[in-house]
Amino acid sequence: MKRAMHSKENKQSKARIILRPFSFLLPAAMCIVPFFPGPVQTSGVITVKANEIKATIQPTMWGVFFEDINMGADGGIYAELIKNRSFEFNKPMMGWKVLGKPATEGDFLVMNRQALNTANPRFLRVSLHNNAKGSLGLSNEGFRKMGIKNNLGYDFSLQYRAPSGNFKIYVELIDEKGMSIGGASITAQRSGEEWKKMSTTFKASATEPGAKLNLWFEGDGILDIDMVSLFPQDTWKNRPGGMRSDMIQMLADMKPGFIRFPGGCIVEGFDLSQRYQWKKTIGPVEERQVMINRWNFEFAHRPTPDYFQTFGLGFFEYFQLAEDIGAEPLPILNAGMACQFNSAEVVPLSQIDPFVQDALDLIEFANGDTTTKWGRVRANLGHPSSFNLKLLGIGNENWGPQYIERLKVFSKAIKEKYPNIQLINSSGTDPNGERFDYLNWELRKMNADIIDEHYYRRPEWFLQNASRYDNYDRKGSKIFAGEYAAQSDKTVSVKNRNTWETAMAEAAFMTGMERNADVVCMASYAPLFAHVDGWQWTPDMIWVDNLQTFGTPNYYVQKLFSLNKGTNVVPLLENNKPLSGQDSLYASATIDKNTNELILKIVNASANEQSKNIEVEGIKKLGSSATLTVLKANGLDEVNSIANPTNVKPMEQIIKLKGKRISLPLAPYSFTIVRVKMS
Ligand code: AHR
Repeated sequence: MKRAMHSKENKQSKARIILRPFSFLLPAAMCIVPFFPGPVQTSGVITVKANEIKATIQPTMWGVFFEDINMGADGGIYAELIKNRSFEFNKPMMGWKVLGKPATEGDFLVMNRQALNTANPRFLRVSLHNNAKGSLGLSNEGFRKMGIKNNLGYDFSLQYRAPSGNFKIYVELIDEKGMSIGGASITAQRSGEEWKKMSTTFKASATEPGAKLNLWFEGDGILDIDMVSLFPQDTWKNRPGGMRSDMIQMLADMKPGFIRFPGGCIVEGFDLSQRYQWKKTIGPVEERQVMINRWNFEFAHRPTPDYFQTFGLGFFEYFQLAEDIGAEPLPILNAGMACQFNSAEVVPLSQIDPFVQDALDLIEFANGDTTTKWGRVRANLGHPSSFNLKLLGIGNENWGPQYIERLKVFSKAIKEKYPNIQLINSSGTDPNGERFDYLNWELRKMNADIIDEHYYRRPEWFLQNASRYDNYDRKGSKIFAGEYAAQSDKTVSVKNRNTWETAMAEAAFMTGMERNADVVCMASYAPLFAHVDGWQWTPDMIWVDNLQTFGTPNYYVQKLFSLNKGTNVVPLLENNKPLSGQDSLYASATIDKNTNELILKIVNASANEQSKNIEVEGIKKLGSSATLTVLKANGLDEVNSIANPTNVKPMEQIIKLKGKRISLPLAPYSFTIVRVKMS
């Protein structure tokens, strides 16, 4: 990126600037940069009318969208390290390898108890013939191997049945070279026909991104095993069998207003048999029926044959996660329609009742008191108090009259029983076109509470459409920008990257959403997570490998909007017009009534360094200094990566102010947030 030449007239605006790494926690040592290069003073004074409230910003305004895509759940935030722990993948031994040499054919048998256990029919029968340690075993490769941390405790468990004898199982983590980096041994006592669970804990002796787990069997006779599991102990909130804490911390750090789950297309499924059914995702994990993940086979160019949903992370855990991070839970339910890009199956209207009942039961599960059927289920899972569900989505990216007629059945039943639940309705896959226009019209006729709009578009679209909501109906349905991301190439292209250009364009667009917070009540970037070795869809907000995470420039944009949302929108005008593209600048202003601050967000989408004078009206005084948080990069193509996770990251500066004027330096291709006290 070329920096603009500094013009003479800008010498006057040289300001003393203090830079420090962006951090809300640490008052990091400040390094003093003596002079800021003089920017180009562009025409027009900007006025902020700090006492003219235009809209209230909903606490839900900036949230997150979670879907088990790109190994977001299994192999991602769900911290289980064993892949195919219950032998339920379509290839039952996927992820497993036999170690040593079985004495006879059939010494490892995949057994299927079928109707006896429909949720978890398969287990593995191991026949041992006086085997000593190291002669016969199994190895699990993990999800793209296993990330293991030195000195950290690991919880191993399995279910077993040993009808005829006692066995010893040696559990051993190995590094890429095959060297042991921790383990333990356990004894499986004769159990007759009864299934038992055994567990052990051990510490790892090395950090290893590419570990595997070996099990060596010792003894004589038949040993049945199932639900082989290994979890790190440093899970989120140290919950056994819980979530990967570094990934969840990235979300918590954003203080998201809501968390949408479980998707995305995963809600719909390839066909109706593969739709997401929340009732099958709660209770003991061994009773949660494994199902193929639709992203396993969705893209021929990115097949992921080992991608399944164990539902170890299910609806109870999603609600708990929302509560943990202070976000409103926002479940999206199937509307009786499978993905219209796939089978496009719909349930006949005469058979839709069970789908609607699932929605009613979900509300009771989340909110019902413990005397209700589903409230009791929640209490028995360890959460007697309500999850206080207020928002519910019916359908994801569904379209056509078939959606509207199904949605009407859902809406009637839900509103009759739970009038206070706000329903979110789909406006399809695109923010314009025939399908969108039809749904927009029909949903508004139905007085939809909230309409879910999705846009995966080029960065230019985001800049050109930053005023999209300026002319929306102020009195009708509210808008949830439920999925959006600027595409550096094109939607579903594997070439899409999380460049600074995409993040900056989103920031510009988001100023338009914020300015229209009376219409747009919620927004979330999508998708959220991606594993660098297991993704199907790019771009994504947060990338991870087995041990590390990093936020993309897009993550920092989302985080900055969320942490600086304020409570109310106030006008920010240039020549009496919102700043939305003039001189390639995009801006919004809010105040925070709790802290008495004015918060400005300005994107300079031009290659020129600019400076703007901002006059603040409607207040007595502005503070004597303002904090600037600036996100910018050395080029529009800049990205973050595992190797360079904070290549693009926010930096803080302090600028001195005089009176009620803010003389604002705006770096080329930058996103700046100004916070200043008012009185
Ligand atoms: O975010 C990825 C996918 O994009 C979602 O699953 C779907 O809703 C959209 O098409």
